[in-house]
Amino acid sequence: MRDGEAVIVILIGAPGSGKGTQSRKLSMSLSMPKISTGDILRSYTLSNHPLSDKINSIIASGSLVPDDILFSVISERLSSPDCDRGFILDGYPRNIQQATFLDSVLSQRKHRLVVVEIVVPEDVLIKRIAGRFSCKSCGTIYNQYFSKPKQAGICDQCGSSEFYYRVDDKESVVMERLRAYQLQTLPLIEFYNQRNLVCKVNGDKSSDEVHEDLLSCIFDKTPKIS
Ligand code: AP5
Repeated sequence: MRDGEAVIVILIGAPGSGKGTQSRKLSMSLSMPKISTGDILRSYTLSNHPLSDKINSIIASGSLVPDDILFSVISERLSSPDCDRGFILDGYPRNIQQATFLDSVLSQRKHRLVVVEIVVPEDVLIKRIAGRFSCKSCGTIYNQYFSKPKQAGICDQCGSSEFYYRVDDKESVVMERLRAYQLQTLPLIEFYNQRNLVCKVNGDKSSDEVHEDLLSCIFDKTPKIS
């Protein structure tokens, strides 16, 4: 990162806005870890984690997992040494309580915080989610309408031929996830705006163009949306 400073990037956007896709790209461009609380929680549901059944049923309903679980997930992950030089948060914080908790965790760190809101029209979000599938082995995200693997049935990144669809990508659940986003997560924009930290990007462009706009936000803090 520029001049060795630690930069912490928070990606805020509705389900399907491209947070997972963009956090992977940023992680590669900036050589910083990306931390996806959705991925971490889904990994719990596939393991012997004591809360796996509870978390699975909450995710499948489209609601948010309780804050106390997220507090321990995020404290543990951020204490890892790979986070010392900055990181990208995908899916955290998701409400004001989580943002306040993050502030307390970060209060001891020297860092620059950048919050990016990725904005995408609802009809596009719904189509993106309907077409999403991911590699079972490395997690690379694809879309049957917008970004298929170069060779059908083979992951571009790792060569695996196994893919999965998410349990919460059913239409009825997607509507609940969008509702949770509007009610609980969108107020974060005002929370961070009060500290002049938010940069907006138009997420309804090609994935490479969105990536470029995100880099501009991180380095120039120029709002890219018109
Ligand atoms: P999470 O996994 O975080 O899901 P989400 O926020 O609903 O977001 P998505 O993963 O659906 O979308 P995305 O924005 O990452 O888009 P993507 O890049 O995949 O959370 C899931 C659940 O876990 C929550 O509902 C909750 O229950 C729980 N949870 C997680 N964090 C929590 C927290 N902090 N607190 C409480 N509960 C929590 O892209 C979508 C599709 O579009 C893909 O197919 C992709 O290929 C395609 N696409 C992406 N960009 C483009 C583009 N520019 N052009 C065309 N297609 C594109």
